[in-house]
This record gives sequence, C-alpha cells and structure tokens, in this order.
Amino acid sequence: MAFRIAQISDTHLSEAKPYFVDNFVRIGEAIRAAKPDLVINTGDISLDGASQASDLAAGRLLHDALGLPLRFLPGNHDLGDAQETASHGESPIDSDRRARYVQHFGPDRWCFDVPGWRAVGINALLLGSDLVEAAEQETAIAQAMEGIGLRSLALFLHKPLFDQTAGESEISNRFLTPAQRSRLPAMLGVVPALVVSGHIHQYRSSDPDGSHHVWGPSTAFVLPDRIQPTYGAKKVGYVEHTLRPDGTHDSRMVEVPGARTLNIDDLPRIY
Ligand SMILES: [Fe+2]
Ligand SMILES: [Fe+2]
Repeated sequence: MAFRIAQISDTHLSEAKPYFVDNFVRIGEAIRAAKPDLVINTGDISLDGASQASDLAAGRLLHDALGLPLRFLPGNHDLGDAQETASHGESPIDSDRRARYVQHFGPDRWCFDVPGWRAVGINALLLGSDLVEAAEQETAIAQAMEGIGLRSLALFLHKPLFDQTAGESEISNRFLTPAQRSRLPAMLGVVPALVVSGHIHQYRSSDPDGSHHVWGPSTAFVLPDRIQPTYGAKKVGYVEHTLRPDGTHDSRMVEVPGARTLNIDDLPRIY
C-alpha cells in the first residue's frame, strides 16, 4: 500500500491576528476529505510564535481540530531564524524558543519508516548553530539513519536547500546557507530521493541534482514580486506526496476551491 502524506506549510496562524485561519480551515476540510495517512506541516505554523506563545497555542488547536495524524517541523516564525541569517528584526533561534516550540508541537526532528521509504524531518533553523541542540540533532539523525538499507529517503525541513544548485555561495535567509548545507551529507549518509520544504510560499518541483525537490506552497499568503522573485507558482494550497513500496513517489500540488491567494501587500500591518 502506498503511504499518502498531505504537506501543508506556512500556515501563519494566530488567535490575535487570524487573517489566515479561513484558508486553513478550507484547506483542512479538503485534506480531511482526501483522507491522507499523515499531515505534515513544514513550518511557519504560527504567525509569530517566536515572540508570542499564544500564536503557537492557536496553531496547535487548529491543527488538532483536523482530527488527522499530524507531524510538525518548526519554521523561522515559530522559533526564530538561523543564527547566521537572522535579520529583518527577526530573532535568532535560542534554547528557550526551541523548548517553547517543542512544548506546543512535540519533537522538532523525527524519523519514521513506511514500506519502501524512510522519512526524516529536521529542524532547519538549528543547522549550523552553536547551540548544544544542534549537535544533538546531528547525532540523533545520524543514528536514526542507520539501517536504512535499500529504502528511499524523504527529507523534510522548513527551508529549501538552495535555489538552483548546491554549489551556490550566496548567504540569504531564503535558502539554507552553504555552511548549513554542508552539515547534511554526514548527517544523512545517503542522497535523499525526495526533499520537501516550505518557507518560500511558492510551489516548485525540480530535479537539479539526483533528488526531487518539492517546495510546498503556503496555505496562507504569497509575497509580491517587489519583495520576492517568482521561482515557481505563487498560489496557496497543499501538496499530496504518495510514497510507494517500490521506492518511487509522486508529489502534486492541490489547489482548494474557495481558498484565496492572499497577498501580504494587502495586509500591511501583519508583521
Ligand atoms: Fe512562511
Ligand atoms: Fe519561513
């Protein structure tokens, strides 16, 4: 039997500023009707959980209301950005913010097997940091990777690895930095068949380097071209990943009728 994952991302939920709750509920209803085996949120679950615990709590309650099996990964808006790239007034990740995230959403890294596949989720914001939790994550994931055998690897994390190639030298808060990317090979030990991320608020599917990279869209909003180039599709929705026992997969974006592609320019006081 194939294993079906509904990937949602960048839900940016908040009780005080519930601008994106309507889209979340509509997309959630479509996912409930599709009956996936698992829902994974690839981060920026909350609008500003890095500074407001109430946004984390609101995000958790809305997810629990789906009544489906859930796994979460943190985004920069949930616990701060990577130390190397924290900017725009955004706080860097620290131990307290990470602990608060874990209190609301459970482990910020995980690993599970389904027929033909091993799925590994990591905390992208910890990569390359000087926090003790970063070293702990690397050790834990390396240990979890033992015994993967002939399974295909699906890697889940908040930020895409790069734009076009792993050799890019640019340091930005949009993609993993070169230093962060350099942590992955030793941690994983094998090349992922599938790399699943969020963060950009655009859907993109590409095969640049032997892995299939899928950027999940936001359920909430897109950014205008004056802030962010167009890399893929600036639309809201979710992605259905089908992992087959023979190690192959399909990933497709699902657009949900009634979910509106909101533009952050139309909501000027959000951040
Ligand atoms: Fe986001
Ligand atoms: Fe993000």
